[in-house]
Amino acid sequence: MAAMCATAFEHDRPPERSTHAEAKISRGTMNPLDLTALSPAQTARLEAWRVERAVDVHCHCLYGLDDGPRTLDESLRLCEALVADGVTTVFATPHQLGRFDGVNTSARVQQTLTRLRQELVAAGIPLELCPGADVRIDERLPRLVDQGDVLAAGPLGKHLLLELPHGLFVDPMPAIAALGERGIQVVMTHPERHRYLAGAMGRLRAWVAAGAAIQITAGSLLGEFGRNAQHEAWRLAEEGLVGLVASDAHDAWRPPRMSAAIAMLADELGRDFARQTCLVNPLKAYRGELLEPCQPN
Ligand SMILES: [Fe+2]
Repeated sequence: MAAMCATAFEHDRPPERSTHAEAKISRGTMNPLDLTALSPAQTARLEAWRVERAVDVHCHCLYGLDDGPRTLDESLRLCEALVADGVTTVFATPHQLGRFDGVNTSARVQQTLTRLRQELVAAGIPLELCPGADVRIDERLPRLVDQGDVLAAGPLGKHLLLELPHGLFVDPMPAIAALGERGIQVVMTHPERHRYLAGAMGRLRAWVAAGAAIQITAGSLLGEFGRNAQHEAWRLAEEGLVGLVASDAHDAWRPPRMSAAIAMLADELGRDFARQTCLVNPLKAYRGELLEPCQPN
């Protein structure tokens, strides 16, 4: 049976965007994907999975902003690793709010993104960068989105990556609803890595029912965040709750692991499921389309 995923909304009109926020954010692509310059790994990924882009929706590839690369050179090395891992297009998603509140402003993120785009072109690294952020949950979120003080992700800014604190649970349902009203779909990042969510399938189902998508980390599937996170990641996938898999790569110590995750998902849960979670839904996020969870065979 083919994976059942995200077909219901496929032809619907994308949700309305926040014009106020958009006015402040330049999402123009200075380094559009050059299909003639792709690496062998990128070409193989697009051909094997019959997609026009291989999108990674969550990656800390911008330098000097958070716990990702410290320098421009480290950013470029991470971007090379993404290219070698078959990724063609990445949402650059540094942390915003939480301990980066007031530090990683949207203007600062945008400035670094623009510079890295220029450097990628100059270095001949075939990687398309899109704006975004890994946003820590905050009760001010709707207002901050309206003001453009936090960044929704992707060329159209129709999705917002939302991260819960690591030590305590904060209910994301109000944020899911408020952003949904603004035409922005919340993407809950790596719930499998929050120990307090272990086995909380009912809670995650409620988020999905309220319109959120669940993103798990490629490295979690591979066991790189420990046995608990690995167990939870596979359970979420088997339960049909996962919408997206992303690298959440930070640097040489947390490198992109999309190729290995795609291969393992294809082996364990079927090629259709791997394609939907790792390629089709990330591409839908790029296009600003609504995401639904993917069902394994
Ligand atoms: Fe992250």
